[in-house]
Amino acid sequence: MTNPLRNPKDQRLPRIAGPCSMVLFGVTGDLSRKKVMPAIYDLANRGFLPPGFSLVGFARRDWADEDFAQVVHDAVREHARTPFSEDTWKQLSEGIRFVQGDLGDADAYLELAKTVGELDASRGTGGNHAFYLSIPPGLFPVVLEHLKATGLADDKPDAWRRVVIEKPFGHDLESAQALNQLVGEVFETGSVFRIDHYLGKETVQNIMAVRFANAMFEPIWNSNYVDNVQITMAEDIGIGGRASYYDGIGAARDVIQNHLLQLLALTAMEEPGTFEAAQVRAEKEKVLSSIQLPKDLGAYTARGQYAPGWQGGIQVPGYLQEEGINPESATETFAAMRVDVDNRRWAGVPFYLRTGKRLGRRVTEVAVVFKRAPHLPFVADAVQELGNNALVFRIQPDEGITVRFGSKVPDTSSMEVRDVTMDFEYGETFVESSPEAYERLILDVLIGDPPLFPRSAEVELGWNILDPVLDFWAEQGQPDQYVSGGWGPHSQYDITARDGRTWRRP
Ligand code: BG6
Repeated sequence: MTNPLRNPKDQRLPRIAGPCSMVLFGVTGDLSRKKVMPAIYDLANRGFLPPGFSLVGFARRDWADEDFAQVVHDAVREHARTPFSEDTWKQLSEGIRFVQGDLGDADAYLELAKTVGELDASRGTGGNHAFYLSIPPGLFPVVLEHLKATGLADDKPDAWRRVVIEKPFGHDLESAQALNQLVGEVFETGSVFRIDHYLGKETVQNIMAVRFANAMFEPIWNSNYVDNVQITMAEDIGIGGRASYYDGIGAARDVIQNHLLQLLALTAMEEPGTFEAAQVRAEKEKVLSSIQLPKDLGAYTARGQYAPGWQGGIQVPGYLQEEGINPESATETFAAMRVDVDNRRWAGVPFYLRTGKRLGRRVTEVAVVFKRAPHLPFVADAVQELGNNALVFRIQPDEGITVRFGSKVPDTSSMEVRDVTMDFEYGETFVESSPEAYERLILDVLIGDPPLFPRSAEVELGWNILDPVLDFWAEQGQPDQYVSGGWGPHSQYDITARDGRTWRRP
Protein backbone atom coordinates (compact mmCIF):
# COMPACT_ATOMS: atom_id res chain seq x y z
CA MET A 1 0.00 0.00 0.00
CA THR A 2 1.40 3.44 -0.81
CA ASN A 3 1.91 5.83 2.03
CA PRO A 4 -0.30 8.89 1.38
CA LEU A 5 2.23 11.11 3.15
CA ARG A 6 5.02 10.11 0.80
CA ASN A 7 5.44 12.12 -2.33
CA PRO A 8 7.21 9.86 -4.83
CA LYS A 9 8.98 12.89 -6.31
CA ASP A 10 10.51 13.79 -2.96
CA GLN A 11 14.17 13.09 -3.61
CA ARG A 12 15.10 13.60 0.03
CA LEU A 13 13.86 10.15 0.94
CA PRO A 14 16.71 7.68 1.41
CA ARG A 15 17.53 6.25 -1.98
CA ILE A 16 18.18 2.57 -1.54
CA ALA A 17 18.99 0.25 -4.42
CA GLY A 18 16.60 -2.63 -5.01
CA PRO A 19 17.78 -6.25 -5.31
CA CYS A 20 20.76 -6.48 -7.66
CA SER A 21 24.37 -7.43 -8.25
CA MET A 22 27.31 -5.79 -9.92
CA VAL A 23 29.76 -7.64 -12.14
CA LEU A 24 33.14 -5.96 -12.21
CA PHE A 25 35.52 -6.39 -15.14
CA GLY A 26 39.07 -5.18 -14.54
CA VAL A 27 39.27 -6.07 -10.86
CA THR A 28 43.01 -5.59 -10.58
CA GLY A 29 43.07 -2.08 -12.02
CA ASP A 30 43.76 1.07 -10.02
CA LEU A 31 40.27 2.42 -10.51
CA SER A 32 38.61 -0.72 -9.19
CA ARG A 33 40.78 -0.85 -6.10
CA LYS A 34 40.90 2.84 -5.29
CA LYS A 35 37.41 3.95 -6.23
CA VAL A 36 34.89 1.27 -7.19
CA MET A 37 35.39 -1.31 -4.43
CA PRO A 38 35.65 1.30 -1.63
CA ALA A 39 32.55 3.09 -2.93
CA ILE A 40 30.55 -0.16 -2.87
CA TYR A 41 31.62 -0.74 0.69
CA ASP A 42 30.77 2.86 1.68
CA LEU A 43 27.32 2.46 0.14
CA ALA A 44 26.82 -0.78 2.06
CA ASN A 45 28.02 0.90 5.23
CA ARG A 46 25.56 3.73 4.78
CA GLY A 47 22.72 1.24 4.30
CA PHE A 48 22.09 2.06 0.63
CA LEU A 49 22.59 -1.44 -0.77
CA PRO A 50 20.00 -4.21 -0.52
CA PRO A 51 20.78 -7.05 1.91
CA GLY A 52 21.45 -9.58 -0.87
CA PHE A 53 23.68 -7.26 -2.91
CA SER A 54 26.41 -9.25 -4.62
CA LEU A 55 29.67 -8.33 -6.28
CA VAL A 56 31.10 -10.60 -8.95
CA GLY A 57 34.68 -10.19 -10.09
CA PHE A 58 35.65 -11.43 -13.55
CA ALA A 59 39.34 -11.82 -14.44
CA ARG A 60 42.00 -14.16 -15.70
CA ARG A 61 43.58 -14.72 -12.27
CA ASP A 62 43.41 -18.16 -10.78
CA TRP A 63 41.38 -17.05 -7.78
CA ALA A 64 38.69 -18.56 -5.63
CA ASP A 65 35.85 -16.41 -4.26
CA GLU A 66 37.85 -15.93 -1.03
CA ASP A 67 40.89 -14.61 -2.90
CA PHE A 68 38.81 -12.00 -4.65
CA ALA A 69 37.10 -11.15 -1.36
CA GLN A 70 40.54 -10.56 0.13
CA VAL A 71 41.40 -8.14 -2.70
CA VAL A 72 38.18 -6.24 -2.08
CA HIS A 73 38.84 -6.28 1.66
CA ASP A 74 42.33 -4.80 1.24
CA ALA A 75 41.04 -2.12 -1.15
CA VAL A 76 38.28 -1.21 1.31
CA ARG A 77 40.66 -1.09 4.25
CA GLU A 78 42.99 1.20 2.38
CA HIS A 79 40.64 3.48 0.49
CA ALA A 80 37.11 3.49 1.94
CA ARG A 81 35.79 6.84 3.15
CA THR A 82 33.69 5.52 6.03
CA PRO A 83 35.07 3.58 9.02
CA PHE A 84 35.53 -0.15 8.73
CA SER A 85 32.68 -2.14 10.24
CA GLU A 86 32.98 -5.90 10.69
CA ASP A 87 29.20 -6.26 10.36
CA THR A 88 29.05 -4.42 7.04
CA TRP A 89 32.00 -6.35 5.74
CA LYS A 90 30.54 -9.69 6.79
CA GLN A 91 27.29 -9.00 4.98
CA LEU A 92 29.03 -7.68 1.89
CA SER A 93 31.59 -10.47 1.71
CA GLU A 94 28.89 -13.14 1.76
CA GLY A 95 27.85 -11.90 -1.67
CA ILE A 96 31.30 -11.80 -3.24
CA ARG A 97 31.94 -14.22 -6.10
CA PHE A 98 34.72 -14.66 -8.62
CA VAL A 99 34.54 -15.99 -12.16
CA GLN A 100 37.84 -16.93 -13.70
CA GLY A 101 38.35 -16.49 -17.39
CA ASP A 102 39.85 -14.66 -20.27
CA LEU A 103 37.83 -11.71 -21.59
CA GLY A 104 37.66 -13.49 -24.94
CA ASP A 105 36.69 -16.92 -23.61
CA ALA A 106 33.06 -17.77 -24.42
CA ASP A 107 32.94 -20.50 -21.77
CA ALA A 108 33.84 -18.02 -19.06
CA TYR A 109 30.73 -15.97 -19.92
CA LEU A 110 28.59 -19.09 -19.65
CA GLU A 111 30.11 -19.55 -16.21
CA LEU A 112 29.31 -15.92 -15.45
CA ALA A 113 25.71 -16.42 -16.56
CA LYS A 114 25.51 -19.42 -14.27
CA THR A 115 26.95 -17.45 -11.36
CA VAL A 116 24.50 -14.55 -11.69
CA GLY A 117 21.67 -17.08 -12.05
CA GLU A 118 22.75 -18.68 -8.79
CA LEU A 119 22.85 -15.30 -7.11
CA ASP A 120 19.29 -14.66 -8.23
CA ALA A 121 18.30 -17.93 -6.58
CA SER A 122 20.42 -17.78 -3.43
CA ARG A 123 20.63 -14.06 -2.69
CA GLY A 124 17.53 -12.70 -4.32
CA THR A 125 19.26 -10.42 -6.81
CA GLY A 126 16.12 -10.65 -8.91
CA GLY A 127 17.78 -10.89 -12.33
CA ASN A 128 19.06 -7.29 -11.99
CA HIS A 129 22.71 -7.06 -12.93
CA ALA A 130 25.05 -4.18 -13.75
CA PHE A 131 28.19 -4.87 -15.75
CA TYR A 132 30.96 -2.44 -14.88
CA LEU A 133 33.67 -2.29 -17.55
CA SER A 134 36.67 -0.93 -15.69
CA ILE A 135 38.94 -2.08 -18.50
CA PRO A 136 40.90 -0.39 -21.32
CA PRO A 137 38.49 0.70 -24.06
CA GLY A 138 40.23 -1.52 -26.59
CA LEU A 139 38.69 -4.45 -24.72
CA PHE A 140 35.11 -3.14 -24.72
CA PRO A 141 34.16 -4.82 -28.01
CA VAL A 142 35.12 -8.32 -26.95
CA VAL A 143 33.31 -8.07 -23.60
CA LEU A 144 30.21 -6.51 -25.14
CA GLU A 145 30.02 -9.16 -27.84
CA HIS A 146 30.17 -11.96 -25.30
CA LEU A 147 27.63 -10.33 -22.99
CA LYS A 148 25.33 -10.15 -25.96
CA ALA A 149 26.00 -13.68 -27.16
CA THR A 150 25.24 -15.19 -23.76
CA GLY A 151 22.07 -13.11 -23.37
CA LEU A 152 23.54 -11.45 -20.28
CA ALA A 153 22.82 -8.01 -21.71
CA ASP A 154 19.14 -8.64 -22.37
CA ASP A 155 16.55 -7.04 -20.11
CA LYS A 156 14.09 -9.62 -18.81
CA PRO A 157 10.50 -8.96 -17.85
CA ASP A 158 10.72 -7.17 -14.48
CA ALA A 159 14.51 -7.33 -14.41
CA TRP A 160 17.13 -4.99 -15.72
CA ARG A 161 20.63 -5.29 -17.20
CA ARG A 162 22.88 -2.22 -17.29
CA VAL A 163 26.37 -1.46 -18.46
CA VAL A 164 28.77 1.04 -16.93
CA ILE A 165 31.59 2.33 -19.07
CA GLU A 166 34.48 4.46 -18.00
CA LYS A 167 36.15 7.04 -20.18
CA PRO A 168 37.94 7.43 -22.49
CA PHE A 169 34.86 7.05 -24.68
CA GLY A 170 36.94 6.74 -27.82
CA HIS A 171 39.97 8.83 -28.74
CA ASP A 172 38.34 11.02 -31.38
CA LEU A 173 34.91 11.59 -32.88
CA GLU A 174 35.06 8.64 -35.23
CA SER A 175 36.08 6.10 -32.61
CA ALA A 176 33.53 7.50 -30.15
CA GLN A 177 30.78 7.08 -32.72
CA ALA A 178 31.89 3.52 -33.38
CA LEU A 179 31.90 2.78 -29.65
CA ASN A 180 28.48 4.34 -29.14
CA GLN A 181 27.12 2.27 -31.97
CA LEU A 182 28.63 -0.91 -30.60
CA VAL A 183 27.29 -0.33 -27.08
CA GLY A 184 23.92 0.58 -28.56
CA GLU A 185 23.74 -2.75 -30.38
CA VAL A 186 24.14 -4.65 -27.12
CA PHE A 187 22.36 -2.57 -24.47
CA GLU A 188 19.21 -0.45 -24.58
CA THR A 189 20.07 3.28 -24.66
CA GLY A 190 18.58 3.75 -21.19
CA SER A 191 20.75 0.96 -19.81
CA VAL A 192 24.08 2.58 -20.73
CA PHE A 193 25.76 4.54 -17.95
CA ARG A 194 28.88 6.47 -19.00
CA ILE A 195 30.87 7.61 -16.01
CA ASP A 196 32.35 11.08 -15.90
CA HIS A 197 33.17 11.09 -12.22
CA TYR A 198 33.25 14.90 -12.06
CA LEU A 199 29.47 14.87 -12.36
CA GLY A 200 29.30 12.77 -9.20
CA LYS A 201 31.08 15.43 -7.16
CA GLU A 202 28.86 17.43 -4.82
CA THR A 203 30.69 20.64 -5.66
CA VAL A 204 30.04 20.12 -9.36
CA GLN A 205 26.32 19.52 -8.85
CA ASN A 206 26.35 22.62 -6.69
CA ILE A 207 27.08 24.76 -9.76
CA MET A 208 23.52 24.12 -10.89
CA ALA A 209 22.12 24.55 -7.39
CA VAL A 210 23.78 27.92 -6.87
CA ARG A 211 22.88 29.21 -10.30
CA PHE A 212 19.26 28.14 -10.34
CA ALA A 213 18.24 28.33 -6.67
CA ASN A 214 19.24 31.95 -6.15
CA ALA A 215 17.98 35.24 -7.45
CA MET A 216 21.22 37.16 -7.24
CA PHE A 217 23.56 35.36 -9.63
CA GLU A 218 21.53 34.60 -12.75
CA PRO A 219 20.80 38.24 -13.74
CA ILE A 220 24.53 38.94 -14.06
CA TRP A 221 25.41 35.54 -15.58
CA ASN A 222 25.94 36.78 -19.12
CA SER A 223 28.14 38.83 -21.40
CA ASN A 224 26.84 42.12 -20.02
CA TYR A 225 28.61 41.44 -16.74
CA VAL A 226 30.95 38.50 -17.18
CA ASP A 227 34.37 39.29 -18.62
CA ASN A 228 35.69 35.75 -18.87
CA VAL A 229 35.41 32.30 -17.33
CA GLN A 230 38.46 30.31 -16.24
CA ILE A 231 38.28 26.59 -15.58
CA THR A 232 41.40 25.11 -14.06
CA MET A 233 42.08 21.55 -13.02
CA ALA A 234 45.61 21.34 -11.66
CA GLU A 235 47.08 18.14 -10.28
CA ASP A 236 50.26 17.73 -8.31
CA ILE A 237 50.60 14.04 -9.17
CA GLY A 238 52.37 12.70 -12.25
CA ILE A 239 51.06 9.79 -14.29
CA GLY A 240 51.91 7.29 -11.56
CA GLY A 241 51.54 3.71 -12.76
CA ARG A 242 49.27 4.64 -15.65
CA ALA A 243 51.86 4.93 -18.42
CA SER A 244 50.13 2.45 -20.69
CA TYR A 245 46.83 4.31 -20.41
CA TYR A 246 48.19 7.84 -20.57
CA ASP A 247 50.87 7.81 -23.26
CA GLY A 248 49.26 8.71 -26.56
CA ILE A 249 46.15 9.98 -24.73
CA GLY A 250 47.39 13.12 -22.98
CA ALA A 251 45.80 15.85 -20.90
CA ALA A 252 43.26 17.12 -23.43
CA ARG A 253 41.70 13.73 -24.12
CA ASP A 254 42.01 12.62 -20.51
CA VAL A 255 40.48 15.66 -18.86
CA ILE A 256 39.35 18.47 -21.19
CA GLN A 257 37.16 16.31 -23.45
CA ASN A 258 35.10 15.20 -20.47
CA HIS A 259 35.59 16.83 -17.05
CA LEU A 260 36.36 20.38 -18.15
CA LEU A 261 33.75 20.51 -20.91
CA GLN A 262 31.18 19.23 -18.43
CA LEU A 263 32.16 21.99 -15.99
CA LEU A 264 31.85 24.49 -18.80
CA ALA A 265 28.44 23.15 -19.81
CA LEU A 266 27.08 23.37 -16.27
CA THR A 267 28.42 26.91 -15.90
CA ALA A 268 27.10 28.16 -19.23
CA MET A 269 23.85 26.25 -19.79
CA GLU A 270 20.33 27.61 -19.61
CA GLU A 271 18.04 26.56 -16.78
CA PRO A 272 16.59 23.11 -17.45
CA GLY A 273 12.85 22.70 -16.98
CA THR A 274 13.50 20.04 -14.32
CA PHE A 275 16.54 18.09 -13.23
CA GLU A 276 15.38 15.03 -15.13
CA ALA A 277 18.00 13.46 -17.34
CA ALA A 278 16.53 14.40 -20.69
CA GLN A 279 16.23 18.08 -19.81
CA VAL A 280 19.63 18.51 -18.16
CA ARG A 281 21.35 16.64 -20.97
CA ALA A 282 19.55 18.66 -23.62
CA GLU A 283 20.67 21.95 -22.06
CA LYS A 284 24.26 20.79 -21.77
CA GLU A 285 24.22 19.61 -25.37
CA LYS A 286 22.98 23.01 -26.54
CA VAL A 287 25.99 24.66 -24.93
CA LEU A 288 28.44 22.10 -26.25
CA SER A 289 27.09 22.48 -29.75
CA SER A 290 27.52 26.28 -29.51
CA ILE A 291 31.23 26.06 -28.70
CA GLN A 292 33.57 27.58 -31.23
CA LEU A 293 37.31 27.20 -31.36
CA PRO A 294 39.46 30.25 -32.15
CA LYS A 295 40.62 30.42 -35.74
CA ASP A 296 44.25 30.73 -34.72
CA LEU A 297 44.87 27.55 -32.74
CA GLY A 298 48.57 28.34 -32.45
CA ALA A 299 47.72 31.52 -30.56
CA TYR A 300 44.92 30.20 -28.41
CA THR A 301 46.05 26.74 -27.33
CA ALA A 302 49.07 25.65 -25.31
CA ARG A 303 50.47 22.31 -24.32
CA GLY A 304 53.36 21.11 -22.26
CA GLN A 305 55.10 18.11 -20.81
CA TYR A 306 56.49 17.95 -17.29
CA ALA A 307 60.25 17.96 -16.94
CA PRO A 308 62.10 16.71 -13.85
CA GLY A 309 61.76 18.87 -10.78
CA TRP A 310 60.89 18.98 -7.12
CA GLN A 311 57.51 18.42 -5.64
CA GLY A 312 56.77 18.59 -1.95
CA GLY A 313 60.47 18.27 -1.19
CA ILE A 314 60.83 15.17 -3.34
CA GLN A 315 62.76 14.99 -6.55
CA VAL A 316 60.52 13.71 -9.33
CA PRO A 317 61.28 12.46 -12.85
CA GLY A 318 60.11 14.15 -16.00
CA TYR A 319 57.36 12.62 -18.12
CA LEU A 320 59.83 11.20 -20.62
CA GLN A 321 61.75 9.50 -17.82
CA GLU A 322 58.66 7.84 -16.31
CA GLU A 323 58.63 4.06 -16.46
CA GLY A 324 56.80 2.77 -19.51
CA ILE A 325 56.85 6.07 -21.42
CA ASN A 326 58.34 6.25 -24.87
CA PRO A 327 61.35 8.60 -24.36
CA GLU A 328 60.34 10.47 -27.52
CA SER A 329 56.69 10.76 -26.65
CA ALA A 330 54.92 13.96 -27.72
CA THR A 331 51.98 13.32 -25.36
CA GLU A 332 51.01 16.48 -23.49
CA THR A 333 50.62 16.46 -19.71
CA PHE A 334 49.40 20.06 -19.71
CA ALA A 335 46.81 21.55 -22.03
CA ALA A 336 45.18 24.96 -22.16
CA MET A 337 42.86 26.59 -24.66
CA ARG A 338 40.36 29.32 -25.23
CA VAL A 339 36.91 28.48 -26.49
CA ASP A 340 33.86 30.66 -27.08
CA VAL A 341 30.23 29.85 -26.49
CA ASP A 342 28.58 31.27 -29.52
CA ASN A 343 25.15 32.19 -28.27
CA ARG A 344 23.32 35.28 -27.11
CA ARG A 345 24.17 34.88 -23.43
CA TRP A 346 27.90 34.40 -23.90
CA ALA A 347 28.85 36.22 -27.12
CA GLY A 348 32.34 37.69 -26.72
CA VAL A 349 33.10 36.03 -23.36
CA PRO A 350 36.17 33.82 -23.57
CA PHE A 351 36.17 30.55 -21.67
CA TYR A 352 39.73 29.58 -20.77
CA LEU A 353 40.33 25.92 -19.94
CA ARG A 354 43.52 24.39 -18.59
CA THR A 355 44.67 21.22 -16.91
CA GLY A 356 48.00 19.71 -16.08
CA LYS A 357 49.89 17.16 -14.06
CA ARG A 358 52.80 17.83 -11.71
CA LEU A 359 51.74 21.39 -11.09
CA GLY A 360 52.27 23.40 -7.91
CA ARG A 361 49.31 21.93 -6.07
CA ARG A 362 46.04 20.10 -6.56
CA VAL A 363 43.19 22.47 -7.25
CA THR A 364 40.10 22.44 -9.43
CA GLU A 365 38.03 25.58 -9.77
CA VAL A 366 35.61 27.40 -12.04
CA ALA A 367 36.14 31.14 -11.82
CA VAL A 368 33.55 33.47 -13.27
CA VAL A 369 35.41 36.76 -13.63
CA PHE A 370 33.25 39.88 -13.91
CA LYS A 371 33.84 43.09 -15.81
CA ARG A 372 35.17 46.14 -14.03
CA ALA A 373 32.60 48.59 -12.68
CA PRO A 374 31.65 50.94 -15.52
CA HIS A 375 32.87 53.93 -13.54
CA LEU A 376 35.15 54.27 -10.51
CA PRO A 377 34.74 57.52 -8.56
CA PHE A 378 38.08 57.05 -6.77
CA VAL A 379 41.50 58.53 -7.32
CA ALA A 380 43.62 56.17 -9.35
CA ASP A 381 46.02 55.33 -6.51
CA ALA A 382 43.17 54.28 -4.25
CA VAL A 383 42.02 51.49 -6.54
CA GLN A 384 45.40 50.18 -7.59
CA GLU A 385 44.78 46.99 -5.62
CA LEU A 386 41.30 46.46 -6.99
CA GLY A 387 40.93 43.60 -9.45
CA ASN A 388 37.90 42.18 -11.21
CA ASN A 389 35.09 40.79 -9.11
CA ALA A 390 34.91 37.03 -9.30
CA LEU A 391 32.78 34.15 -8.19
CA VAL A 392 34.81 31.00 -7.81
CA PHE A 393 33.38 27.50 -7.45
CA ARG A 394 36.10 25.69 -5.54
CA ILE A 395 35.53 22.14 -6.72
CA GLN A 396 38.42 20.60 -4.79
CA PRO A 397 40.24 20.01 -2.56
CA ASP A 398 39.20 23.02 -0.52
CA GLU A 399 35.50 22.68 -1.34
CA GLY A 400 33.36 25.79 -1.34
CA ILE A 401 32.68 29.08 -3.06
CA THR A 402 34.60 32.34 -2.95
CA VAL A 403 33.26 35.73 -3.94
CA ARG A 404 35.91 38.38 -4.55
CA PHE A 405 35.02 42.05 -4.45
CA GLY A 406 36.51 45.41 -3.50
CA SER A 407 36.21 46.83 0.00
CA LYS A 408 37.49 49.90 1.79
CA VAL A 409 40.80 49.51 3.56
CA PRO A 410 40.13 50.56 7.18
CA ASP A 411 41.71 53.69 8.56
CA THR A 412 42.60 55.27 5.25
CA SER A 413 41.34 58.79 4.70
CA SER A 414 41.22 58.43 0.94
CA MET A 415 38.71 55.81 -0.19
CA GLU A 416 41.36 53.18 -0.64
CA VAL A 417 39.81 49.98 -1.97
CA ARG A 418 41.29 46.54 -2.08
CA ASP A 419 40.12 43.05 -3.07
CA VAL A 420 38.66 40.98 -0.27
CA THR A 421 36.93 37.60 -0.33
CA MET A 422 33.86 36.10 1.19
CA ASP A 423 34.01 32.34 1.54
CA PHE A 424 31.57 29.51 1.88
CA GLU A 425 33.29 26.34 3.12
CA TYR A 426 31.51 23.01 2.87
CA GLY A 427 33.45 21.67 5.84
CA GLU A 428 32.30 24.47 8.12
CA THR A 429 28.69 24.69 7.01
CA PHE A 430 27.70 21.05 6.64
CA VAL A 431 28.39 18.54 9.38
CA GLU A 432 28.39 15.48 7.14
CA SER A 433 31.35 14.97 4.84
CA SER A 434 30.42 14.73 1.17
CA PRO A 435 30.20 11.26 -0.37
CA GLU A 436 32.79 10.31 -2.93
CA ALA A 437 31.74 10.85 -6.54
CA TYR A 438 31.81 7.08 -7.13
CA GLU A 439 29.40 6.42 -4.26
CA ARG A 440 26.82 8.68 -5.82
CA LEU A 441 27.35 7.38 -9.33
CA ILE A 442 27.34 3.68 -8.48
CA LEU A 443 24.18 4.12 -6.44
CA ASP A 444 22.59 5.97 -9.36
CA VAL A 445 23.48 3.06 -11.67
CA LEU A 446 21.93 0.52 -9.30
CA ILE A 447 18.82 2.66 -8.89
CA GLY A 448 18.69 3.47 -12.60
CA ASP A 449 18.84 7.24 -12.22
CA PRO A 450 20.56 8.73 -15.29
CA PRO A 451 20.92 12.57 -15.03
CA LEU A 452 24.56 12.49 -13.94
CA PHE A 453 25.69 10.34 -16.86
CA PRO A 454 26.56 11.91 -20.20
CA ARG A 455 24.72 10.39 -23.13
CA SER A 456 26.31 9.57 -26.46
CA ALA A 457 25.57 12.98 -28.02
CA GLU A 458 27.48 14.82 -25.27
CA VAL A 459 30.48 12.59 -25.75
CA GLU A 460 30.46 13.10 -29.50
CA LEU A 461 30.06 16.87 -29.15
CA GLY A 462 33.11 16.87 -26.88
CA TRP A 463 35.20 15.17 -29.54
CA ASN A 464 33.84 17.45 -32.19
CA ILE A 465 35.29 20.37 -30.23
CA LEU A 466 38.59 18.74 -29.46
CA ASP A 467 39.47 16.92 -32.67
CA PRO A 468 40.71 20.00 -34.60
CA VAL A 469 42.96 20.95 -31.68
CA LEU A 470 44.38 17.45 -31.45
CA ASP A 471 44.98 17.35 -35.21
CA PHE A 472 46.69 20.72 -35.02
CA TRP A 473 48.94 19.63 -32.17
CA ALA A 474 49.80 16.38 -33.93
CA GLU A 475 51.57 18.46 -36.57
CA GLN A 476 53.50 20.58 -34.08
CA GLY A 477 56.13 18.14 -32.78
CA GLN A 478 57.17 18.11 -29.15
CA PRO A 479 55.21 20.06 -26.53
CA ASP A 480 56.98 22.68 -24.37
CA GLN A 481 58.67 21.34 -21.28
CA TYR A 482 57.71 22.75 -17.87
CA VAL A 483 59.33 22.20 -14.53
CA SER A 484 57.52 19.81 -12.20
CA GLY A 485 56.11 21.63 -9.21
CA GLY A 486 55.57 24.86 -11.17
CA TRP A 487 52.46 26.13 -12.95
CA GLY A 488 52.94 24.81 -16.47
CA PRO A 489 54.36 26.14 -19.73
CA HIS A 490 54.71 29.84 -20.37
CA SER A 491 52.69 29.59 -23.56
CA GLN A 492 49.49 29.38 -21.47
CA TYR A 493 50.02 33.01 -20.41
CA ASP A 494 50.20 34.11 -24.03
CA ILE A 495 46.64 32.88 -24.54
CA THR A 496 45.14 35.24 -21.98
CA ALA A 497 47.66 38.03 -22.59
CA ARG A 498 46.57 38.25 -26.23
CA ASP A 499 43.12 39.12 -24.93
CA GLY A 500 44.52 41.60 -22.39
CA ARG A 501 43.66 39.25 -19.53
CA THR A 502 45.53 37.08 -17.03
CA TRP A 503 45.00 33.67 -15.53
CA ARG A 504 44.03 33.70 -11.89
CA ARG A 505 46.62 32.26 -9.55
CA PRO A 506 44.86 29.17 -8.20
C1 BG6 B 1 40.65 11.08 -14.19
C2 BG6 B 1 41.87 11.20 -15.06
O1 BG6 B 1 39.49 11.08 -14.97
O2 BG6 B 1 40.60 12.15 -13.27
C3 BG6 B 1 43.11 11.27 -14.21
O3 BG6 B 1 41.93 10.09 -15.93
C4 BG6 B 1 43.00 12.33 -13.16
O4 BG6 B 1 44.27 11.49 -15.02
C5 BG6 B 1 41.70 12.18 -12.39
O5 BG6 B 1 44.11 12.21 -12.29
C6 BG6 B 1 41.51 13.31 -11.42
O6 BG6 B 1 40.36 13.10 -10.66
P1 BG6 B 1 40.11 13.94 -9.35
O7 BG6 B 1 38.75 13.53 -8.91
O8 BG6 B 1 41.19 13.57 -8.38
O9 BG6 B 1 40.21 15.38 -9.74
